[in-house]
Amino acid sequence: MKEHATREFYKYGKKARYFMLDELTLSHLLRDRNEFIEAGLPYGAAIARAVVKNNTDYVLEIGPGLGDLAIKFMEHAQGKVKHYVFLDISKDLIKHVKKRVNGMSVIGDAMLLPFKKGSIDLIICNEVLADLPIKRVNGKMINDGAIKAIRECIRLLRKNGKAVFIEVGGKAKRISVFGHEEYTIDFDEIERVLRKNNTRYERGKIAKLLGINTKLRFVSPVTQAELVELYKNSGMDKHKFSKIYSLEEFFTTFGNEKWLSKGYKQYLKKNARAIRELVEQFDYITIFKD
Ligand SMILES: C[S@@+](CC[C@H](N)C(=O)[O-])C[C@H]1O[C@@H](n2cnc3c(N)ncnc32)[C@H](O)[C@@H]1O
Repeated sequence: MKEHATREFYKYGKKARYFMLDELTLSHLLRDRNEFIEAGLPYGAAIARAVVKNNTDYVLEIGPGLGDLAIKFMEHAQGKVKHYVFLDISKDLIKHVKKRVNGMSVIGDAMLLPFKKGSIDLIICNEVLADLPIKRVNGKMINDGAIKAIRECIRLLRKNGKAVFIEVGGKAKRISVFGHEEYTIDFDEIERVLRKNNTRYERGKIAKLLGINTKLRFVSPVTQAELVELYKNSGMDKHKFSKIYSLEEFFTTFGNEKWLSKGYKQYLKKNARAIRELVEQFDYITIFKD
């Protein structure tokens, strides 16, 4: 698969109904109330808590996926945000999000945003940068697409506006995901670009920004397929099992169910992963338009 094929994958091939199977995003795992984030907030609400400080006219979310972040964000920011705009390259995802989120939808590319200079107060871009193309310069991979998208966001921001980017950090290298390619984001390189551009920024770990307790272990969705298999005949709602559970919560909820054998309980205890393993991969960078 060629490097730019990721764009084609999203533009033409990305279907909302396969989204949960193709991708395991942090925002999906934590999309409902959960034990991992302070005060039990869903992921989108935790983002709103961290970034919406004042009344805000225009929020733009780039690459909303299925819209879970947007829904919880707006619930939490209630009254403080006037307009929610979401932009995605995938027509099918936009169609899906339109049904779920009250806002203005735009089909477009993060690297060429179809909005006027100085028109947006707050931009949220969660787990999208890794999907944008890279460029090789003297054998080194550069997150070229991510840098283009960030430059576009700087152009769009109003005075006192800010843009928050969340992504897996590390030297730019390929991550293998179903059907397309992703690249970790070299935040040091992004910082260099921002310094050159005299843009103020703040960078850190997502666990700190959102208040995620990294000590807990979770019943991994990697074992989810097995869980679904196991519960198929238990007559319970399959959707329930696509939720992330801390080991403790899982046993409190299902511990006494007949279908949960002793052997499987032991298996889960042994295989539950620390949420830290996943969360610590994620960095954020917020840029400010002074
Ligand atoms: C990994 S998903 C993340 C979705 C969502 N933000 C979340 O956290 O679950 C990447 C999203 O970015 C969108 N996307 C990928 N490339 C894009 C581009 N060049 N311009 C705009 N959206 C893009 C995809 O269609 C998808 O909605």
